[in-house]
Amino acid sequence: MKNVNIAILGLGTVGGGTYEILSKMNRGLIENRTGIQFTLTKVLERDLSRLEALGIDPACAVTDPDLITEADDVDIVIESLGGIDFPSAVMEKALLNGKSVVTPNKAAVAANFDKLTKAAKSSGAQFRFEASVGGGIPALTAIQEALSGNKFTEVMGIVNGTTNYILTKMGEEGWSYEDALKDAQARGFAEADPTADVEGIDAANKLSILMALCFGEYIHPDDITREGITGVTMADIEEAKAKGGKIKLIAGAKKRGAILSYSVKPTFIPNEHPLAGVSNEFNAIYVTGNAVGELMFYGKGAGALPTGSAVVGDIIAIAKTL
Ligand code: HSE
Repeated sequence: MKNVNIAILGLGTVGGGTYEILSKMNRGLIENRTGIQFTLTKVLERDLSRLEALGIDPACAVTDPDLITEADDVDIVIESLGGIDFPSAVMEKALLNGKSVVTPNKAAVAANFDKLTKAAKSSGAQFRFEASVGGGIPALTAIQEALSGNKFTEVMGIVNGTTNYILTKMGEEGWSYEDALKDAQARGFAEADPTADVEGIDAANKLSILMALCFGEYIHPDDITREGITGVTMADIEEAKAKGGKIKLIAGAKKRGAILSYSVKPTFIPNEHPLAGVSNEFNAIYVTGNAVGELMFYGKGAGALPTGSAVVGDIIAIAKTL
């Protein structure tokens, strides 16, 4: 059986979920389906209890990322550290060294999209980040492959699970904002600093990535007009209900001629719109292509296993080409 060596940087929610799927939950199924066996050779993780919890040999642990980006026994680097500068530098180094990289790190991809895609092109390595938008929803691969014969005119969606969870619990169960946020954090949906979720920063990162792929225009997330959900009150939610709809945090972009307009903001969605039915941590990405028409992708946008599912899909796609 073909062997592919992987290294994981960061065994938090997504890194742990990825290992769980690839090496435990679906190991046999993946081996049978692909004829590929994956071996974890290196891990960058300071908290050794995480290795122990996942049954990973502590001998795999390294503290210097160069021991991964320059290692002969690493074919694919999985970056799930979080943050921007450090993980971006590690990913760029790995890509320049010809190692393919998979990441769910939307903040790093959005902040350094040009740099990282250029690094991949220059060495011929692959850079895949399906899990960075919409968690387990394979929208990015579809946009780049199955839908690549379309000119996109619009992309919009609910791309942050934490805020959608909070708005759902407030609207449908009468929870307070604080209780709903705490619960979203306990379930592993929220960012380490949930400000990124509730202020729309995470959604702006994801919109930046979607725009780069749909329209070929890279807009830095800091240049996206955004408003989070901290100003949404129970009274706003009740008012929306009375008008026959819901308030959702919508990240959207439209291309009209040469003009691209984009924003992240709480938006009234009428109950008959498909996005109104997207609840809890579920996400949906709604694209309009000039050939396919309107299309909606729907699924779990956060959490260890759904997001790990997208990471594993990218790992397998790369491994098949090695
Ligand atoms: N904090 C993010 C969310 C995680 O709630 O959607 C998935 O990107």
